Amino acid sequence: MEQYAIKGGTPLVGEVEIGGAKNAALAILAAAVMTDETVVIENMPDVRDTNVLLQAISSIGGIVERIDRHTVKINGSQIRDLAIDGDYIKKIRASYYLLGALLGKYKKAEVALPGGCNIGSRPIDQHIKGFRALGADVSIAHGLIIAQAERLRGSHIYMDVVTVGATINVMMAAVMAEGQTIIENAAKEPHVVDLANFLNSMGANIKGAGTDVIRIKGVSKLHRTEYTIIPDQIEAGTYMFAAAVTKGDVTVKNVIPKHLESISAKLVEIGCEVEESDDAVRVVASRRLAHTHVKTLPYPGFPTDMQPQITVALGLSQGTSIVTESIFENRFKYVDELTRMGANIKVESNTAIIDGVEGYTGAGITAPDLRAGAALVLAALAAEGVTTIDEIRYIERGYEDLPQKLKSLGAQIEIVDTEKELQKFRLRVG
Ligand code: EPZ
Repeated sequence: MEQYAIKGGTPLVGEVEIGGAKNAALAILAAAVMTDETVVIENMPDVRDTNVLLQAISSIGGIVERIDRHTVKINGSQIRDLAIDGDYIKKIRASYYLLGALLGKYKKAEVALPGGCNIGSRPIDQHIKGFRALGADVSIAHGLIIAQAERLRGSHIYMDVVTVGATINVMMAAVMAEGQTIIENAAKEPHVVDLANFLNSMGANIKGAGTDVIRIKGVSKLHRTEYTIIPDQIEAGTYMFAAAVTKGDVTVKNVIPKHLESISAKLVEIGCEVEESDDAVRVVASRRLAHTHVKTLPYPGFPTDMQPQITVALGLSQGTSIVTESIFENRFKYVDELTRMGANIKVESNTAIIDGVEGYTGAGITAPDLRAGAALVLAALAAEGVTTIDEIRYIERGYEDLPQKLKSLGAQIEIVDTEKELQKFRLRVG
């Protein structure tokens, strides 16, 4: 089984290009089938989750053409099958975006109940509530969510919790509904805004995305577009923290610094220097990190998808830090792995109390999910000695070319598949 072998202790130095945002891409890919005309999407990240969704789109009759590694052409005119139940589709949570997209276009969709990263219970009640408010009948049977409507009519929907997924799904279902839909307490994440911009470029009439009230006036149909996906906030944040934990000097390029403000602010608080330019952010860490407290919150708060990475950094800082996870209940599972590397962290319900240690030591560990997996890579880059990380398929769901990009910053990292390859790596890195 493939694993990462990482020899830590080298400060990461240099520049790294950030790719398109995975979570924006997933929403945009689903929305792309809502027109019968051809849509061209640029800056598409080549990661497992987007590739699985592209497969799902092909499997229902969508025509998917890859122009180059980061550009895809999609045509949804030949879609005949409104049921998505491939085994592989359960593996990615965002498959449920096809519910909103197909319901919006064809007034009917059946999608297998989503799986995705195992980070706690993930209800879909707000999605269902939104679809019902638009006039759809929604039921769950044999592992499928089935939504259908004679006609969809605009409605006033108040989300009980701030949810990215339901905001996106309801936005797609409402785009071609009759009349006006208002989503209150909407999620404000950059990828919600990116989807709205994409849909507007196809002729939709969506206003207010990025605030907590989104207003959608239904249009009768959508048309062709060419669109470039925004840079990935979380990929960028992960490399920024890689600089922090290795006492490095890394410039993340092709980013929107505004999207990174909550991450930059915490880095400054723990003693890093952060320099912003138009589309790049440089992080320099030259001394031991300082402790702080952090609570994950919906955008523009500190993202839950950066919680494991900041915990890894605070595990190395001077003093005691507290990290509170307020979005997902079970997102500290990686702490046991980190403890095996020498961290001193106690988890009580949704809070981690972290007593910083001087350093981590390499160990054999396992990635429990996507972001925690990436955070464990950061721990390994900071650790003394060699770490091996299993279950790298989780990391590959959302990080394109992670080993290559880290290597270009001076990291010693390899994908190894056998004990022999691991021994060779150990000999080479000394
Ligand atoms: C999206 O998940 C992201 N996934 C997640 O990224 C991210 O962690 C999360 O938003 C929060 O930012 C994608 O965009 C594909 P939510 P999503 O709906 O949409 C509760 C990654 O690593 N809730 O905003 O599933 C829910 O339990 C992934 O890239 C309800 O109660 O998250 C949670 O507590 C992991 N009812 C909160 O809302 C619902 O109907 C936020 O969830 C829906 C959600």
